[in-house]
Amino acid sequence: METEEIRHLLAKALEARKNSYSPYSLYPVGAAVMAGDGTIYTGCNMENVSYPASLCAERNALGSAIADGKRDFLAIAIIGSPDDYTMPCGICRQVLAEFRVPLIICGKSENDYRLFTLEEIFPAAFTADELKKK
Ligand code: THU
Repeated sequence: METEEIRHLLAKALEARKNSYSPYSLYPVGAAVMAGDGTIYTGCNMENVSYPASLCAERNALGSAIADGKRDFLAIAIIGSPDDYTMPCGICRQVLAEFRVPLIICGKSENDYRLFTLEEIFPAAFTADELKKK
């Protein structure tokens, strides 16, 4: 993926972060996922007073894409704290694996980011193949 596209995806994640509903953690997160056709879907974290009912930015972004009929993806960008690279949580990694999102862009800003492959951050994943082995 071109640097310009990466920066654009990070800018979209940053924009979505502004809408974060995170009154409990006070840790706003934004995400932007690019579908195979280049369409970008964004999401932010959405917390709940019943804490486990909260949803991460990545799954919100992917949910929008899925609702729009998308099934294949090129990359996802995530921005949380400007002081560190926010890594996807375990549940989000499982969801990223479900849709084989190949590239994970963790940013502090549009110009400061780290790139990871799905395999790097979620090796030896439980996948649909395992179900065939029962
Ligand atoms: N969070 C995300 O939205 N994505 C991540 O990758 C890490 C954590 C959210 C969940 C919760 O609303 C807040 O950040 C603090 O954990």
